[in-house]
Amino acid sequence: MLSKNKNKQIMETGAGTPMGNLLRRYWMPIAGESEFDDKETKPVRIMGEDLVLYKDLSGKYGLVDRQCPHRRADLSYGFVEECGIRCNYHGWQFDETGQCVAQPYEDTAHADANFKKKVKITAYPVEAKAGLLWAYMGPQPAPCLPTWEPFTWKNGFVQVVLSDVPCNWFQCAENCIDPIHFEWMHANWSIRLKGETGPYIPKHLQIDFKRHDYGLTYHRIAENTDETSPLWTVGRIYLWPNCLFTGEHFEWRVPIDDENTLSVAWFFNRVPNERGPYVQNRIPTWYSPVKDEDTGRWITSHVMNQDFVAWVGQGRQSDRENEHLGNSDKGVAMARKQLFDDMELIEKDPSADPFAILRDESRNDCVELPIIGREKYRDGVDTGQRQTLGSGGNINRRFPFLAGQPAEVKLAYEDAMGFKMEDW
Ligand code: FES
Ligand SMILES: [Fe+2]
Repeated sequence: MLSKNKNKQIMETGAGTPMGNLLRRYWMPIAGESEFDDKETKPVRIMGEDLVLYKDLSGKYGLVDRQCPHRRADLSYGFVEECGIRCNYHGWQFDETGQCVAQPYEDTAHADANFKKKVKITAYPVEAKAGLLWAYMGPQPAPCLPTWEPFTWKNGFVQVVLSDVPCNWFQCAENCIDPIHFEWMHANWSIRLKGETGPYIPKHLQIDFKRHDYGLTYHRIAENTDETSPLWTVGRIYLWPNCLFTGEHFEWRVPIDDENTLSVAWFFNRVPNERGPYVQNRIPTWYSPVKDEDTGRWITSHVMNQDFVAWVGQGRQSDRENEHLGNSDKGVAMARKQLFDDMELIEKDPSADPFAILRDESRNDCVELPIIGREKYRDGVDTGQRQTLGSGGNINRRFPFLAGQPAEVKLAYEDAMGFKMEDW
């Protein structure tokens, strides 16, 4: 359990709060690059800050205050120029550093005053990587934006899926270090959702948690595996500070504010070797719904939707004063301790780096992670080998993770893979 105060501290992410300060030390994925194929601006709310993400006519991204500093119009209705974004009310223009670079009337009639030099709005650096747009909202100098190993893989079909999950970020993050829930929430509940009463899958016998350079790993042995299983020897990782990485896909939980979280998922599917070399021209981004509009209930059919059911079920903000942690929650306790330690560290010494920060650009060509079956993804397999490889070398005929995959994404996937998808 956590005291009321500590629970509040771990959940609050606004500017100037201890957790807000800590999370701002890490790059956060906030959108898909392809979202800007057909738009110039996107209003976003990140850690309680209302901002506008834009792509200007020169192709540069910016992330600035939502409100124009002149008379507070909404810059998400602004339009972009060769350099930066222009407010649609009186035409003030801002570059990606937030500096006002044009005030059409003042510049014309009162040029000597050079009023624009005195006006600057909040702005944060944005980088594009792996089809995602990433923001850094912390103090300079910014650390490296990690090139996680799967971002370097070739011959894959990648998709980015966003979901708005109406609860606090940390109950979503705790799910990154929770091996037992796979057995119940995904496997056994899915059996029940199909209308069957069993048999349930083999039980977990042993779990373990370890520190890694970039997060905490979890390891497990079930009734049908032993200590030679890669789920025990390699494990999976809670990639710090708010991501689950399973070996071929990432799930970030980015705080929108203290009661809402943006789920950002990145999926890699290796095309069969006989389809290669394959180059993806565009990484699609799509929004997945969380609610079944017909019934008003949460969607339960897909793996991540099931996770969302758990998180929102804990309430907008989980009441950790009334929880009872067991041995299965050792990883959750480790994660909380790391976050509290780091909040204290950076408060005492703002120049210190918290856990899992990468600053050495020479190590950032490809940052290795624990990956079960790495060769399948990196080197690929033939379609014919699917049977012998169990998971099929990631050549999936279904998309089991999130509900609502648009038809055009499905078609693009089928085109890449060379086969038809099956319904989930
Ligand atoms: S309110 Fe934006 S230019 Fe006037
Ligand atoms: Fe899950």
